[in-house]
Amino acid sequence: MTTVRYAFDVIGELFFGKDFGFMKEKTDVGNYMKAIHEICIKNTIAGTVPSYLSGLTFPTLTLFCPSFRGTIEAIINLSVSSKTAMDRRMREIEENSDDRRDIIRKLMEISADRGEKVNFNTNHIYAESHSSFFAGADTTAIAMSSILGHLIRNPIAYGKLTSEIDTATAEGSFSMPIKYKEAIKLPYLRACINEGMRLHPSVGLTMPRHVPPGGTTIDGVYIPEGYIVGMNPAVVQYDKNLFGLDAEQYNPDRWLGAGAPQMEKAMLHFGIGTRICIGKNVRLFVSYIRNPQV
Ligand code: HEM
Repeated sequence: MTTVRYAFDVIGELFFGKDFGFMKEKTDVGNYMKAIHEICIKNTIAGTVPSYLSGLTFPTLTLFCPSFRGTIEAIINLSVSSKTAMDRRMREIEENSDDRRDIIRKLMEISADRGEKVNFNTNHIYAESHSSFFAGADTTAIAMSSILGHLIRNPIAYGKLTSEIDTATAEGSFSMPIKYKEAIKLPYLRACINEGMRLHPSVGLTMPRHVPPGGTTIDGVYIPEGYIVGMNPAVVQYDKNLFGLDAEQYNPDRWLGAGAPQMEKAMLHFGIGTRICIGKNVRLFVSYIRNPQV
């Protein structure tokens, strides 16, 4: 629960220049968490049924499951909240009330400098900030919960990590709060982050892609063009050929061996290719500075 609140506040800070008050109030501000959980259930069903049924999923669920009616309210709530937060932040930026370099400021600069050329206007900024609620908070919270949860249940790994952090602190190579450039130098921390995200990827769905014109051959099987293919990180990241015979076990030490670069390539937790997660670096930043402090 705390990791979700924390992740929402990080999104607030990064996008809108101000946290939402989840950590301060210790509550689900504006029912955002409840809304996202309800929307996720509906979206997961709609996204996994055959495409000819997906348009019917929402009306059917709403008709037969009264609890899904709350989802409509939740979607409206979230849209209003992200628009209100963005309007406030845009006003502040226009009035020069501070010089914070947050994501809305950066997007406004892109829109002002090259908006017409790259077709990027205020409506696109609204869409980006709205999708950040859905894409950034739960995913980050799940990753942090897995990293910390596995460490708490594994005293040996926990001991190795705390001693790595203690040594770095004693040597004076750590500041408080920790800086990203300092944290990435800790190999065992990196191993624990990778292993936590390997065993419990935040997105456990295939990431569908259309087979391009001319078709393609995957693992010796020809797939004609137009078909949809995908890979699920929750399957690939348990592959014993890639991660070793103990792939089902928690073992951060596997990331210290010579095979680590090959394993990194096989990690699909942020997706891959042109649609790879745009928040990947934000999220890694949060992980590297937050986990050692906890
Ligand atoms: C641990 C944290 C996160 C995980 C595991 C994660 C995972 C993913 C995955 C698996 C995809 C689909 C990629 C694909 O189809 O290849 C995705 C897309 C996306 N993510 Fe993340 N994400 C995280 C954090 C964030 C954050 C913090 C933001 C926003 C600041 C964000 C914004 C997005 C957006 C906008 C997309 C859609 C990109 C596109 O379709 O072009 N994500 N993410």
